[in-house]
Amino acid sequence: MKFSLDNQTVNEIQTACLVIAVSESGLQGASATRLNTTSDGAIEAMIESGDIVTGLGKCTLLHRLPGLAAKRVLAVGIGKAEKINLARFDRACLAAGKILRDHSATDAHSCLHEVTIEGADSGTLLRQSALALHRANYMYTATKPRKDDAPSPLKSLSFQAGEDSRPVLEQAYSFALGFQKARDLGDLPPNICTPAYLAQEARAIAEQFENVELEVLEEDDMAELGMDALLGVSRGSAHPAKLVVLRYQGADSKQPPVALIGKGITFDSGGLSLKSGENMMQMKYDMCGAAGVIGAFLACADMQLDINVVCIVAAVENMPDGDAYRPGDVLTTMSGKTVEVLNTDAEGRLVLCDAITYCQKFEPAAIIDVATLTGACMIALGHHASGLMSNDDNLAADLLAAGDAIVDRAWRLPIWEEYQSQLDSPYADMKNIGGLPAGVLTAGCFLSRFAEDQKWAHIDIAGSAWKWGSDEGASGRPAGLLAQYLLNLSAKS
Ligand code: BES
Ligand code: MN
Ligand code: ZN
Repeated sequence: MKFSLDNQTVNEIQTACLVIAVSESGLQGASATRLNTTSDGAIEAMIESGDIVTGLGKCTLLHRLPGLAAKRVLAVGIGKAEKINLARFDRACLAAGKILRDHSATDAHSCLHEVTIEGADSGTLLRQSALALHRANYMYTATKPRKDDAPSPLKSLSFQAGEDSRPVLEQAYSFALGFQKARDLGDLPPNICTPAYLAQEARAIAEQFENVELEVLEEDDMAELGMDALLGVSRGSAHPAKLVVLRYQGADSKQPPVALIGKGITFDSGGLSLKSGENMMQMKYDMCGAAGVIGAFLACADMQLDINVVCIVAAVENMPDGDAYRPGDVLTTMSGKTVEVLNTDAEGRLVLCDAITYCQKFEPAAIIDVATLTGACMIALGHHASGLMSNDDNLAADLLAAGDAIVDRAWRLPIWEEYQSQLDSPYADMKNIGGLPAGVLTAGCFLSRFAEDQKWAHIDIAGSAWKWGSDEGASGRPAGLLAQYLLNLSAKS
């Protein structure tokens, strides 16, 4: 979908659909007010009569309003004006976007950013509405091409704003690109999206930008580095593991990079600690951490931020096999620390710990790993918040703020040292599981042991990266949170 700006008088804009906001107390913004005037008060009258519903996310399609060049108007409810905030605004825009996607219209013009929200300027609202409308417009087509009678997504979307909004619009486009990439990768089936496929995707990004370089470590390279934890997980799979290293240079090479690390388990069967059929069904999503960091990296490169970033994807498949690693095995990680494997289904931390050790050769200013790491995180936080754990209060605060700013939110969880003893093992430096209590935290504690002198954060996206049910699919998260964090670090913010 293309974004554009159009600052003509709103009633003269030729479009299949004008999109305006209405609250319980009436019209929102100058454009809605103007349309009401040119249509002789028709919109306000319909709000009063209840023909336009104003509840949050409720949409009403209006036809043949007098005095407009547009074919129709979509009135989008934002509920009570005094309760509106960025997250609610995002929900309203998303609802509007779904109507637009499912309607025959293929172009639209949005005035939604004219809503008044305390603490959010119109640029923020323009970007948020663009992202939500873009997200709603998504349709999976990789293995199921669109049928002729299927909904027709928007091809172009303009906004009621002038040239001064160009930078915001371009930023929104880069963010949308990142989200979309994360989502596309997450939704692909595991027979297509293999470790080699992830490496290929990274190559395509490296070829697209002059200041991006790619290195892919093969299993032999990893063996030489002593990554026996990562390779242990991979042993049961017919698809060789890849450690994908993307480097973006937007600043002086002396400036330390931010390291983003993604869990890229392209399928998690559980290994010999085999998952049940019920729990295995969704495990193609186990590479959504990788998808999220790749998406954020792409957005950063597209914006040409003036920072350095290294993005590492541990791309591995976790399968049972005669040569697979077993419960009881003791593995030596690249750091030299040993791990007693008690459950081969706690594999994410085993691939991440070696990636965390490896990335320290870049002397990063901060390390952020992202993973669909624990079912426990999904139980604790559901699908709305990612779980954030960190050994650094400033880094944690920056990441939380970034998530709030783009409505890709995280919630901080404690990894107090008291939890560490749950990982004690008589046979190695640690076990790879910490038992039932606080499974999300003991996973975080495990990783923290490999980032001891580093400024480090871990984001568990087991619940936020995808949804099942009627709107099943990858969410693209936390590409937005990460891209916003990188943008905030850059002087271009
Ligand atoms: N990939 C899963 C975590 C997961 C579960 C993500 C459900 C999304 C939805 C991870 O590798 C896993 O299997 N974790 C185990 C850890 C346990 C064995 C300590 C879990 O959460 O059950
Ligand atoms: Mn697992
Ligand atoms: Zn997993």
